[in-house]
Amino acid sequence: MSVSTASITETCHALRERVNARLEKYVEQAPGVPQRLQEAMAYSLMAGGKRLRPILVLLSCEACGGQAEAALPAACAIEMVHTYSLIHDDLPAMDNDELRRGRPTNHVVFGEALAILAGDGLLTLAFDVLARDVTPGETAAACCADLARAAGMAGMVGGQVADLEAEGRTVSSIEELEAIHRRKTGALLASSLTMGARIAKASNEDLHRLASFGRCLGLAFQITDDLLDVCGSPQNLGKAVQKDASRGKLTYPSLLGEEASLLRAQCQVVEACKWIEPFGERGRRLESLAQFVLERDH
Ligand code: IPE
Ligand code: IPE
Ligand code: MG
Ligand code: MG
Ligand code: MG
Repeated sequence: MSVSTASITETCHALRERVNARLEKYVEQAPGVPQRLQEAMAYSLMAGGKRLRPILVLLSCEACGGQAEAALPAACAIEMVHTYSLIHDDLPAMDNDELRRGRPTNHVVFGEALAILAGDGLLTLAFDVLARDVTPGETAAACCADLARAAGMAGMVGGQVADLEAEGRTVSSIEELEAIHRRKTGALLASSLTMGARIAKASNEDLHRLASFGRCLGLAFQITDDLLDVCGSPQNLGKAVQKDASRGKLTYPSLLGEEASLLRAQCQVVEACKWIEPFGERGRRLESLAQFVLERDH
């Protein structure tokens, strides 16, 4: 392990702990919340996961000179939206998966109706957290807009629809594939960077650089997710593998082959890192994280 890989692993571990502690508080039992709903939300949210998006929020804030503490609510909010997207993605009507984050999927344990509602609960809680705990109000509103747009019809939800529509199709183009991946995964990941930057009161120029970094990294991330479905292990990933081909999913390896897919991911990471060169030392941890995305086995 290189020095920079070792130190980013330590950084991620420490930030993940802080995020987990705050998430735990946000999904505690509260008056009026049916117990089974609270259990279903906490089951998926606290099941582990890399916490990549929250870590990106915190590192983006720090790269722009802000304090990670101020960005913790936004970090938690994006993880809630991400976890909701996973619960719904695994439903029988979508990817029909039974293993997630090393555990049976939410609908397997709680039933489909509660899994759908647990997802809804996490999605709405995310905006409650942003609106209440990000300050000042103007920044909270901007973060709500970032996250809503990234998660919504022209972002993650739109990408998920396009992903399902492309299933089983025999003729597809790289442009179509890229448009799916940019929406279903890239948009949310990029909003981690913009929210962190907004909380640090970054200049418009830095905001644009970080958003661009996030878009490239998001695409690289979904390409490596596609590759891990082909050559990863369920033990490391905590989810089933080799399911995309049997479902007829449009993925990078299915369209381009593994080698060319890896090359695409590498190019996206190189481009991502170019965008944050002007940050110099302050951008190093984001650079190391981008490298992790490329080399990850989970
Ligand atoms: C999996 O996301 C779904 C995709 C968008 C590819 P992650 O690989 O970040 O899943 P967790 O959060 O670590 O479980
Ligand atoms: C999911 O992509 C992207 C989401 C918005 C959740 P995948 O369907 O490839 O994610 P995994 O492989 O099930 O984690
Ligand atoms: Mg899917
Ligand atoms: Mg899936
Ligand atoms: Mg996948």
